Amino acid sequence: MKPQVVIGTMQWKNNTKCLSVEEATDLIKNCYNENLLKFDLADMYGNYTTEDLFGQALSKSGIKRSNLKLSTKCGILSPGTKYKVKAYDTSKIHIINSVNNSLKNLKTDYLDVLFIHRQDLLINFEELESTLTELKLSGKVKNFGVCNFSTYAFEALNNKIPLLTNQINFSLTQYKALFNDTLFQLGNLNKKTQIYSPLGNYFDKNSNDTRENLKNIINSLSEKYNADIDQILLAWTLKVPYKITPILGSTNFQRIKEQINAFNLTLSTEDWYLLLEASRGVELE
Ligand SMILES: NC(=O)c1ccc[n+]([C@@H]2O[C@H](COP(=O)([O-])OP(=O)(O)OC[C@H]3O[C@@H](n4cnc5c(N)ncnc54)[C@H](OP(=O)(O)O)[C@@H]3O)[C@@H](O)[C@H]2O)c1
Repeated sequence: MKPQVVIGTMQWKNNTKCLSVEEATDLIKNCYNENLLKFDLADMYGNYTTEDLFGQALSKSGIKRSNLKLSTKCGILSPGTKYKVKAYDTSKIHIINSVNNSLKNLKTDYLDVLFIHRQDLLINFEELESTLTELKLSGKVKNFGVCNFSTYAFEALNNKIPLLTNQINFSLTQYKALFNDTLFQLGNLNKKTQIYSPLGNYFDKNSNDTRENLKNIINSLSEKYNADIDQILLAWTLKVPYKITPILGSTNFQRIKEQINAFNLTLSTEDWYLLLEASRGVELE
């Protein structure tokens, strides 16, 4: 079975990295040649510049737009963009403007998926339903998804507009979705579960994670299964039986290729629980 993954673009331009158009073009082409055709973007990535980088790189790559699936997101306002403070905005005017801007940046006339980036605390479900319906009817957006919605909010919007998925933070170190029914809800509705940051904070140099026991267990399982650490981390997420689709955030194509081998790696149930217990630091109840 073809591994279900999405290629993330959040790290293409961050505090320490900035891919050139040429590097982004190579990455898109390499992914395309490996049949990795889904890319995840957001209006705000790279301080609102990554979509434009992607659009330029895609043009340069010579790959036909229709051969890829492109998703982007809107709804988070960084401080200073509209208000002094960080805020969420799912008003009709904001979403429509943001989509038009994304289409221009990406040099396309449609998005495969539009994600509402956060559960707007001042959400107006009727207005949102009308906005998404308008976007669908105009042909500008084919499908919709949300990120980090609670199970109640997901159900409320999904009852009005069918949602593809709830894109959530899920990994061995961020396992909340196992316990708050988010994963169960998606599984029960037979939806795909897109997970972001699937490696957790494992490779984050600024992380102050002190779970030495967890690191030791991961290292020993890496030897036992003859697998890289990132493959062990991914395999842990993939064992969860709810159509897990990881969004891989590496900018290094070789790493992406290796990580995909995690789909051939099945951790034993005992090892899965061993890792969970080490991450939580306490036995299950
Ligand atoms: N919806 C949301 O709110 C939300 C939030 C966050 C992210 N996302 C999406 O999810 C995607 C993935 O998230 P993520 O970027 O946090 O994913 P990730 O795949 O968990 O982490 C990627 C980071 O780990 C590093 N890395 C990976 N393997 C490594 C290794 N073996 N050794 C050292 N470093 C390694 C990568 O560096 P290299 O580039 O050097 O390999 C990169 O900086 C994002 O690109 C974005 O599209 C969505």
